[in-house]
Amino acid sequence: MDLKIGGKTAVVTGAGNGIGRAVAVRLADEGASVVVADIRGSDARRTADEISDRGGTALSVEADGTREADVDVMVAAALQSFESLDILVNNVGGGFGSSPVVKQPVDEWDRTIEINLKSTFLACHAAAPHMIGHKQGRIINISSISGKVGEALVGAYSASKFGVIGLTQVLAKELGRYSITVNAVCPGYVWTPGWEQLASWLKERYTSMAGRTIEEIFDKRAGPSTALGRPQTVEDVASLVAYLASEDARNITGQAINVDGGAVMC
Ligand SMILES: NC(=O)c1ccc[n+]([C@@H]2O[C@H](COP(=O)([O-])OP(=O)(O)OC[C@H]3O[C@@H](n4cnc5c(N)ncnc54)[C@H](O)[C@@H]3O)[C@@H](O)[C@H]2O)c1
Repeated sequence: MDLKIGGKTAVVTGAGNGIGRAVAVRLADEGASVVVADIRGSDARRTADEISDRGGTALSVEADGTREADVDVMVAAALQSFESLDILVNNVGGGFGSSPVVKQPVDEWDRTIEINLKSTFLACHAAAPHMIGHKQGRIINISSISGKVGEALVGAYSASKFGVIGLTQVLAKELGRYSITVNAVCPGYVWTPGWEQLASWLKERYTSMAGRTIEEIFDKRAGPSTALGRPQTVEDVASLVAYLASEDARNITGQAINVDGGAVMC
């Protein structure tokens, strides 16, 4: 299937590793020029080099997605280098710590809301005016199945991912008249550096998990929780993002679609 995104420009945040890296590579494989943004400049460069090695076009930008000035630089880099910004993938996200809400340090709460929800707001805020001017665009926000059903021990993460879906719906309504679609993608269980970090926190904090390796902690969550009985891959998520970025998805907006092997059916 030709997704018809050749010649478009995409910005992918948090694209140095994990899901963001796979999304950036897939969009470049489909012919988009990709701005690979990450707080770790060297990781962004590594993804951009990977895209170049595969024959694609990419520019790396070191940017903290929670800082307005950095996000403005990221958007300006896309416009300066490729003269457009057609596809925005807000992938930056994650959590800090794991504990019941009543024991959650306030600082961890703030940082988690910031990395998931504020980063999505800032990038939309900076990029959407350009898309409005061109009366076309695709915004794809990476939420989570924890944004569909509350998840114990990761309250701030879950609440912020619900917030990402809410913001997605609001923006879909506000931007629809400009032919800009706004959708959320909700991954289930994907083995990435981010999940590795979560498994380490769980292992540190909960004695019930002390004897397990971090891979075992992941497998115990991922397998039995899904209808298909298996975890998802970064490529599974990238496939849906590429579809939502395509011309074929022009009439899909305001949706939050799970890539979770049937873990959550709402
Ligand atoms: N892995 C999963 O199972 C899973 C499940 C559901 C949702 N998600 C969501 O998918 C997205 C990607 O997750 P992942 O597991 O690939 O994460 P990851 O931690 O493996 O990779 C995140 C990337 O973002 C970068 N980053 C971190 N903070 C940043 C900041 N402030 N500004 C810019 N870049 C920053 C990191 O350097 C890293 O390259 C997140 O929004 C996450 O919440 C992941």
